[in-house]
Amino acid sequence: MVAHRNDLSVPVAVHLHGGHTPADSDGYPTDLIEPGGRRDSTYPMRQRAATLWYHDHRMDFTGQQVYRGLAGFHLVTDDEQDALGLPSGERDIPLMITDRSFGEDGSFSYPASHHGAGVDDAHMEGVLGDVVLVNGAPWPVLEVAAARYRLRLLNASSARRYRLGLDPARTPLAQIASDGGLLEKPIEHSTVLLAPGERCEVVVDFSAFKPDTDVTLRNGLGSGGTADVMRFRITGRGGDDSRIPQQLSQIEPLSADRAVRTRTWTFRRALNDEHPVWRLDGRAFDPERIDADVRLGEIEVWRFQSDLHHPVHVHLDPFQVLSRRNQGPGPHDKGWKDTVDLAPSESVDVAVRFRDYPGRYLLHCHNLEHEDMGMMAAFRTI
Ligand code: C2O
Ligand code: CU
Ligand code: CU
Repeated sequence: MVAHRNDLSVPVAVHLHGGHTPADSDGYPTDLIEPGGRRDSTYPMRQRAATLWYHDHRMDFTGQQVYRGLAGFHLVTDDEQDALGLPSGERDIPLMITDRSFGEDGSFSYPASHHGAGVDDAHMEGVLGDVVLVNGAPWPVLEVAAARYRLRLLNASSARRYRLGLDPARTPLAQIASDGGLLEKPIEHSTVLLAPGERCEVVVDFSAFKPDTDVTLRNGLGSGGTADVMRFRITGRGGDDSRIPQQLSQIEPLSADRAVRTRTWTFRRALNDEHPVWRLDGRAFDPERIDADVRLGEIEVWRFQSDLHHPVHVHLDPFQVLSRRNQGPGPHDKGWKDTVDLAPSESVDVAVRFRDYPGRYLLHCHNLEHEDMGMMAAFRTI
């Protein structure tokens, strides 16, 4: 149980992203904690070790409230993971990546529309900043020993996607986990792609670099102030008894032939009184409406279709990516995912299975401005 007290002057709704959480504690957008109020949330944590995060989910205001800082990490551990010998303690580093713009006085500048909720038509694509912050600091520098580190990368930006890589690229990013925890086997990447809401955990062996040198974490999709993310400064040799086992975990495959049905969810733009708006299946989110009933324990194939880029997130339980454009899963689709990045005009099939907790949950685009404009739907587990 976690008690959230709201000392702000605006209402909030707290969602644990990636949490296997009973519905009344999942932070439904209308489950508000009013200013001065308090709400107790139950987080049973009957789930695998994984890098979760919590953030505001208030109806129509998620983008601007997360922008102003209402987001944080929530790390789940378990014995399976602790026994692996992965880098730990000071060498296990959560990195929350966001992009922000600042006013002349150093305040966050979010282009909120004049009626307070959401953004204006000029920000249909979502709000992009021109400075990258890691754990709240612009382009920080972290001193590291010449040893292996576990980096828990989280893209907590509103709308920006990143392609992260080291410069110089002397050693690979060994991915060990994704949204829903450990992969079966590590995967070596030269760069990792991260859409809003996604997590990717990598082990980097900084002993590949000379002491007293700097290594930059770069964003291959950025330019100017968004091309660099942070730097690592190699201080010296450090003892290192960590390892990356070739077998990290076991994952039960949710195969499509066990699925009881296929549901299609379409993420596209529409016009509302000549104003462009973002819609899921052509409808705006209505907190009173249930868009689908799903039976607990059953496997379903959910087919996500896009017009442009949309990172699609499902609450309650992680899923597995089955295919992209009728091909196999992409290089960043392995393991248990709770957010999957759709490219323009793409169709991605995932297998979902909700284990328990009957109630009302969400799926939505995790571009936070798209979400605030109504690109969200509610499903009910029964
Ligand atoms: Cu990270 Cu429904 O949210
Ligand atoms: Cu979530
Ligand atoms: Cu979107």
